[in-house]
Amino acid sequence: MAEINNSSLSSELRVPEHIAIIMDGNGRWAKRSGQPRIAGHKEGMNNVKRIATAASHMGVKVLSLYAFSTENWSRPSKEVSFLMRLPVDFFGTFMPDLIKENIKVLVTGFTDHLPEKTKKVVFKAMDDTKDNTGMILNFAFNYGGRAEIVNAAKNLAKEAVNGSISPDDIDDKLFADQLLTSPLGSLADPDLLIRTSGEERISNFLLWQLAYTEMVFDKTYWPDFTKDNLIEDIKLFNDRDRRFGAI
Ligand code: IPE
Ligand code: IPE
Ligand code: MG
Repeated sequence: MAEINNSSLSSELRVPEHIAIIMDGNGRWAKRSGQPRIAGHKEGMNNVKRIATAASHMGVKVLSLYAFSTENWSRPSKEVSFLMRLPVDFFGTFMPDLIKENIKVLVTGFTDHLPEKTKKVVFKAMDDTKDNTGMILNFAFNYGGRAEIVNAAKNLAKEAVNGSISPDDIDDKLFADQLLTSPLGSLADPDLLIRTSGEERISNFLLWQLAYTEMVFDKTYWPDFTKDNLIEDIKLFNDRDRRFGAI
């Protein structure tokens, strides 16, 4: 793990290699100041830029951000359309920084079901940053943990039926290879999960990958979540004793 020596820290901290964040509370952030929900999503997007930059400077290897769930389609169509347009705005304005910061973009989710324009910009962002060697900024966009697991099971069943594997070959490794996070290889499982906004649930995020992840539930609404909040949550992570079933 990388160590950070930040001026706002009293001692050196171990930085988790893979941090996952459920960016929640955009709607309530907007409502609090009498604005429409989409104003919260817009400010949430701006905050992705700030936190991605901060995490990259700290030496985080993978930052996974839950941006749109397979269940979020059930929101009002105007809100869904706004969320589908956000990647156009985000990559349209943030690409020079992503290049400068050497950040590689990954989108894990059911991208086939995205509107054409959204699909085009996310694939272009992945292509434009594919040679970057720094932090991986992984957007879970149209992502759902159950659908991911069902999809993996389906792929393995097909391989078993066509004879390329035997059912007994299926183990953790073969299963994980079929998950949407497989491009992350050995870094697929988050070390730390942060959920903002005070809700304490997983909401169908990374169900398989979170098996031994440390979780922190932060009360801050996502648009207000700062680098200092991130450092506080990493401090909580540093106090945890990860045993992975051993003693
Ligand atoms: C998180 O904020 C962003 C998405 C789910 C897309 P919300 O939109 O869920 O905000 P709240 O939870 O209603 O405040
Ligand atoms: C989880 O937040 C999804 C994202 C942050 C993208 P939700 O706001 O959709 O989750 P619930 O409905 O409160 O469980
Ligand atoms: Mg929410």
